[in-house]
Amino acid sequence: MSVSKEVKRITTHILKSMKDNKEKISMLTAYDYSMAKILDDAGIDILLVGDSASNVMAGHETTLPITLDQMIYHASSVVRGVQKAFVVVDLPFGSYQGNSTKALESAIRIMKESGAHGVKLEGGSEIADSVIKILSAGIPVMGHLGLTPQSIYKFGTYTVRARDTEEAKKLKSDAKLLDKLGCFGIVLEKIPSKLAKTVSKSVSVPTIGIGAGPDTDGQVLVTHDLLGITKEFQPRFLRRYMELHEGIKDAVQDYIKDVKSNDFPNKSEAY
Ligand code: KIV
Repeated sequence: MSVSKEVKRITTHILKSMKDNKEKISMLTAYDYSMAKILDDAGIDILLVGDSASNVMAGHETTLPITLDQMIYHASSVVRGVQKAFVVVDLPFGSYQGNSTKALESAIRIMKESGAHGVKLEGGSEIADSVIKILSAGIPVMGHLGLTPQSIYKFGTYTVRARDTEEAKKLKSDAKLLDKLGCFGIVLEKIPSKLAKTVSKSVSVPTIGIGAGPDTDGQVLVTHDLLGITKEFQPRFLRRYMELHEGIKDAVQDYIKDVKSNDFPNKSEAY
């Protein structure tokens, strides 16, 4: 008799209890089935189908060009590779800003067509109407404050946000608002550690930091950066766990050499 192992899927309730029990939450990006399967197998808590796919997968300079259809394609591929992780998907630029009805339609398309478990939106009070509407449809929403890449042309730079009192004050009140509205978590990107600690203590839901220091309730990185597939991107907050760009290049150069020298395939690799 075969005994199938029950895999306990991560839920928003589990994520909240992880914060309450001071258990750190791990989150990484995924854009495709094969990588999602590896990350899920490794035990990651949250997989983010980030609009960073626009940079990492498609080679665009910013996250702005990626479309809702493309996000759904990536998300459905990720969902098929996952048994345990909570899968959250970025609403792409232009699919929610300034129009809460459109925001709800976009979120519903993501949930229906990809099978994901929640959506992420960038911004605070400006997108409150959209957050309320999406939540009212029973769709879990994650917030994203600090350096919000969809606003890069407003910021003009990818530097640390909320260093000045005014911006820090708005970020603190936005975090409290997103918490009050019912978001299940908030990403805090590239802000001072001290501010991230204050915000994390002030909200009831988990904060997930990227370049926000050690005191958020969890951490997120772009998987391709962590694995050293993207070589040029080297911010201070990034810890590389592998140098896969070089590793893959070496392997491919070995393959080319073996093909050219007629070493591959050998007898045991042929029929
Ligand atoms: O799109 C993305 O990868 C993100 C993370 C950097 C948080 O939003």
